[in-house]
Amino acid sequence: MSNLKSCTWRSITLGAIALGGLLAAPLAAIAAEPTTTPTFTKDVAPIFQAKCEACHRADSIAPMSLVTFEETRPFASAIKARVASRQMPPWHIDKTIGIQKFKNDRSLTDDQIDTVVRWVNAGAPKGDPKDMPAAVKWPNEQVWNFAPLFGQTEPDLIIRSTPYLQKAGAQDAWWKPSVELGLTEPRWVRAIEIRPSTVQGRKVVHHAIANLRQDESLAPANVRDPDAATGAAAAQPGAGGTFMEWAVGKQGEIMRPNSGKLLLPGARITWDIHYSDGKEDVTSVVELGIYLYPKGQEPKYRQQLALWGAGGIDIAPGEVKVTQGFRAMQSAGRVESMQPHMHLRGKAMMLEAITPDGRKQVLSYVNDFNFNWHNSYVYADDVAPLLPKGTILVVTAWHDNTTAKKSNPDPTQWVGYGDRTVDEMAHAWINITYMSDADFQAEVDARKAATTTQQQQQ
Ligand code: HEC
Repeated sequence: MSNLKSCTWRSITLGAIALGGLLAAPLAAIAAEPTTTPTFTKDVAPIFQAKCEACHRADSIAPMSLVTFEETRPFASAIKARVASRQMPPWHIDKTIGIQKFKNDRSLTDDQIDTVVRWVNAGAPKGDPKDMPAAVKWPNEQVWNFAPLFGQTEPDLIIRSTPYLQKAGAQDAWWKPSVELGLTEPRWVRAIEIRPSTVQGRKVVHHAIANLRQDESLAPANVRDPDAATGAAAAQPGAGGTFMEWAVGKQGEIMRPNSGKLLLPGARITWDIHYSDGKEDVTSVVELGIYLYPKGQEPKYRQQLALWGAGGIDIAPGEVKVTQGFRAMQSAGRVESMQPHMHLRGKAMMLEAITPDGRKQVLSYVNDFNFNWHNSYVYADDVAPLLPKGTILVVTAWHDNTTAKKSNPDPTQWVGYGDRTVDEMAHAWINITYMSDADFQAEVDARKAATTTQQQQQ
């Protein structure tokens, strides 16, 4: 399947280059064609430092290190296959439609893919050792990296999952303990960090999601979720209240200025930890560090992560099925991020907005969903969609219950909604900062002014 995909991608790219050449300036296109062979030290290492080492280095989550030439060379052909098909780095947004500027984009540019592919095609040469860039100094992941930013030695709250023993050679497991935060009053969160508590644990924790469960009716009225009545609880059987989600592979999140997440009395974290690849027995705990705004310095805006999409799912054996959910925003807001959630048969998901003036726009399209990767796509500050009250968010999910879907455990089964990995879901986690109509208008005006200034400078 990966070969097929890489062929498709390459022929599309080649087609586009050929077409551009014909229509525009064939000579310029030929002149721009690079003549030198890329080498590891000069051309490839800088790309891998920027886009792969975060996971592919000693003691991190990926199966092998891609730091030195010697470590990398044996994987050259696997690297070409995964890179050309855009399966690595894991980032599954369609590049041709929707918003393209993200805070956490880890994908490769077309040029970078081209460099890696040409390097492998040329026999993956090492190049001159003098060209090798200085090694990246990775932050020590066994310390709390945000603490110094707030003048602290550790987070205000540290929530730990209960220990789990992943045996050597064991199959993938999902561990879901629920842990109380111990709060008796509402508190505002300004940053979050998450990490397996040991280096050994890092090797078996594929991802960890911290879901926040709390009773929304305990929120102060001025910041209560305007969509709560129509939201998660109404749309999803089995889902209660508001959640917070976190996945390893990114270090943490600092909230936007003057905004935060609100924790309510009695709140709990329900973990969803994916343990994989047990080469030795490892007992692991995952830690969530929460930094709070000091009392009296509460932010103005609340960021709200909620579930948008469809609950009813009905997929026949051997069927590719489209499921759609839509709901109106009860207040104006800025969409900060989106994260598709489907299971093994999930194929693609689109998020669209229909504004009250009748305009419809695609915000994001994840065209190659992969259950192994729970990516949250965080929009950059100057493009995060500002949407007026009454905007309808449309979540469209495609499931592939055929043999074409590699991860499909059994195409002869009927599939419905459910918690098990072999059941399905069809929703997105969407993080929205809600605001009054007046604040919304001010945000829209500020963005217009910034865009105009930029255009004048060009
Ligand atoms: C967010 C973490 C992450 C990033 C970033 C990342 N990888 Fe990976 N990679 C993984 C994990 C985990 C696996 C094993 C599980 C899987 O295949 O999904 C993997 C698997 C692979 C494999 C398959 C290994 C095999 O045994 O065949 C290749 C090749 C690969 N990555 C190359 C790359 C390259 C090249 C980059 C950068 C351009 C990159 N990856 C970026 C986490 C990452």
